[in-house]
Amino acid sequence: MSMCNRQWILARRPGGHLVEADFHYRETPVPEPDLDSGQVLLQNLWLGFDATQREWLKDQEGYLPPVAVGEVVRASSVARVVRSRNPALPEGALVQGLFGWQDYTLARTDDPIPPSLLPPGVNPEMALAALGGTALTAYFGLVDIGGLGAGKTVVVTAAGGATGSMAVQIARLRGARVVGVAGGAEKCAWVKSLGAEDCIDYRNEDLPQRLAALCPDGIDIAFDNVGGAQLEALIGRIAPRGRVVLCGQIASYDAATPPPGPQNLMNLIYRRARIEGFLMLDFLHRTGEAFAELGPWLASGQLSWNSDVQEGFERIPQTLLRLFRGENLGKQLLRIEPAPETQA
Ligand SMILES: NC(=O)c1ccc[n+]([C@@H]2O[C@H](COP(=O)([O-])OP(=O)(O)OC[C@H]3O[C@@H](n4cnc5c(N)ncnc54)[C@H](OP(=O)(O)O)[C@@H]3O)[C@@H](O)[C@H]2O)c1
Repeated sequence: MSMCNRQWILARRPGGHLVEADFHYRETPVPEPDLDSGQVLLQNLWLGFDATQREWLKDQEGYLPPVAVGEVVRASSVARVVRSRNPALPEGALVQGLFGWQDYTLARTDDPIPPSLLPPGVNPEMALAALGGTALTAYFGLVDIGGLGAGKTVVVTAAGGATGSMAVQIARLRGARVVGVAGGAEKCAWVKSLGAEDCIDYRNEDLPQRLAALCPDGIDIAFDNVGGAQLEALIGRIAPRGRVVLCGQIASYDAATPPPGPQNLMNLIYRRARIEGFLMLDFLHRTGEAFAELGPWLASGQLSWNSDVQEGFERIPQTLLRLFRGENLGKQLLRIEPAPETQA
């Protein structure tokens, strides 16, 4: 165990594009060696990076309180239990939770967001990527909000990211016809390799024109991670009684001035279409249902995933920036230090 607890804290409220100077590095003592009953000391091994972290850094009302200036940056992670006074979380076990940008933290099973044990045989990468929140988001967004079914035409934006790449595959495996939207030829090629019939490179192609060519009868389910101009293009091509699933608005998270909203909402009226936002957190009690379908697909290799792994504690802030520059292919992760990877 190292002698100090390395931490990255929020140095100031970011204005517009995130920069590394928005974060400050510090070293503090490892938390209390004499644990209370029920408490565990966790050592972070892997960090997950989520677009929603950018929203947590804003001074605004959201689904979780904002990260305060001077506070450790909240982040998903996989940690090892290094000391335990809780029989449910024995020393050596791997757990998942929101343990933040730091080496060590104290936790309890009655915390508001408690640590959860990784299932046997599941390694940290798989827990944070293929079986993590972004996979559940894709699943419930498509199935519950989108009404996913065989034969539907589904368009997914940010299709080469963590959530989008899962959405593309889940839609395809449920028998839908899928078109992805992503930035750059390399990402689009990967999205097609996941089973999308085509993938539109929005940086180099005319999105409305390409949607019209690829979806002549309209889009039945538009799974939108981006907002702004991409959302407007999806609404412009929505099929009669189609559904726009508002998963995220990443085009506005890191912008000083958010892009204007869609100018064509009337099309939803003309097409009798529906638009609905959702939060994955509302579906946590149904993870078993999702894993019952995702698990066999993963085991058979029909559902694949990619993790984009960075290394080193010092690279944590710059790794978050990668999401807003479109540098990640699949799930963005960072390994803090090598460790045995599978739950005994
Ligand atoms: N509703 C929920 O409960 C829920 C839960 C999890 C995630 N989400 C949402 O899902 C979306 C994806 O999140 P994630 O964590 O899985 O990240 P991700 O998709 O792995 O990474 C973000 C991707 O977004 C694209 N992007 C970034 N800035 C952009 C911009 N200004 N315009 C267009 N595209 C941009 C980039 O891909 P390109 O190279 O293709 O541009 C980037 O790789 C986010 O909107 C997030 O809020 C929602």
